[in-house]
Amino acid sequence: MKKQNEGTSRRDFFKIGGLSTIPLLIPPMAYGASSLSEVLKDNSDDSKAAVNFIYDGPMFSPQDYLAKLNEIDKANPIEIDYYSSGGVTKALEEEFARITGKEKAIYLPTGTMANQLAIKLLNGNNTKVIVPDNSHVFRDEADAAQSVHNLRLIPLGKDKSYFDLNDVEHAIQYLDQNEVFKSGLGTVMIENPIRRADGTVIPFETIVEITNYCREQGYKLHLDGARLHIASAYSKVPVSEYASHFDTVYISLYKYLNAGSGAMLCGDAAFIDQIPHQIKILGGTMLRNWSNTAMALHYLNGIDQRWQEVIRTGAYLISELNKLDGVTITAVKNGSNVFDLKLAQEINPQELTRLLFTEYDMRIGTTNEQGLVKFKVNETLLSRDPEEIIHAWKAAIDSMIG
Ligand SMILES: Cc1ncc(COP(=O)(O)O)c(C=O)c1O
Repeated sequence: MKKQNEGTSRRDFFKIGGLSTIPLLIPPMAYGASSLSEVLKDNSDDSKAAVNFIYDGPMFSPQDYLAKLNEIDKANPIEIDYYSSGGVTKALEEEFARITGKEKAIYLPTGTMANQLAIKLLNGNNTKVIVPDNSHVFRDEADAAQSVHNLRLIPLGKDKSYFDLNDVEHAIQYLDQNEVFKSGLGTVMIENPIRRADGTVIPFETIVEITNYCREQGYKLHLDGARLHIASAYSKVPVSEYASHFDTVYISLYKYLNAGSGAMLCGDAAFIDQIPHQIKILGGTMLRNWSNTAMALHYLNGIDQRWQEVIRTGAYLISELNKLDGVTITAVKNGSNVFDLKLAQEINPQELTRLLFTEYDMRIGTTNEQGLVKFKVNETLLSRDPEEIIHAWKAAIDSMIG
């Protein structure tokens, strides 16, 4: 049966794989396709959508992206925007304000800019911001806070997945006792789920404890919720409930909403109204954004239901794959959609990757230093019958270990 093609074609996949020569440009959780350069035969059967266990979602090829936009436009003509105002961009902003329960939302070209502008403006005249040690803000934003916005980031929770209230209280006490001038701490930020901790979802009670304390003390709160829908899908805490504990929340338009890029920052109207000027100062005001916002609006619709289906199907798949000889898939503590796949010695991971890819158009990541493959479930699972996926793995493994 012909299925809708929502994935990259094999040729595009190799182009993505080829990007591994510039690894610093690729977010760490997108790794996985890198050692596939030997699998260059294109015997593509694009009658089935590609299933990948690597990325946040389908990673559209340009052709698939255009086809999808066309489909969206046919169903409901896409309305143009002008420097982000009006049209489908405005519709998406309104939808984000609604789902986060905030007064307003604004489109920005990147999540990096959303995070940086949020902490800069929330901080007022204060200089310090508490950030998670493993956060995107601290590790992956090129020291923008320090070099562009004159902020001093105080990282907490080193060698842990996330910090707790104790860590925050200690840090504040330490700063007060060990610095002559008053602390000047303005904002505490949290990332949830945590990309550098395999999609760990911070227990909601921990978030509530930290944010209640910060509010009592008068600190502002920002949430990097690039993948907040995933945290919500696994924890069952609604996006609006998470957002209610923060002054501002950012959600990515491309992680799970399949846009080419883009971010939404949500908060009070008075706060959000300051953002357009700041985006312009940074040179990020773009004439047309509809190709990103139309795609994101399309995928925002029904995301919670689809993810309940991904979780159900993913759990079933994992329990069935675990019955195969030599396959062990385990969950991460407080995890979401990222699992650890361990293969027995007699299964050659490269050969398994090759077989799954060339025979069944399925992608898995590469083995890391701990001998594990990060196994990620996402919406591409929904494009195939789970029995077909299980059969593919069984056939590939049987062919290797008999
Ligand atoms: C947790 C988190 N925050 C922020 C970002 C930044 O997003 P952007 O690439 O839109 O700047 C990313 C992107 O990888 C991310 O994973």
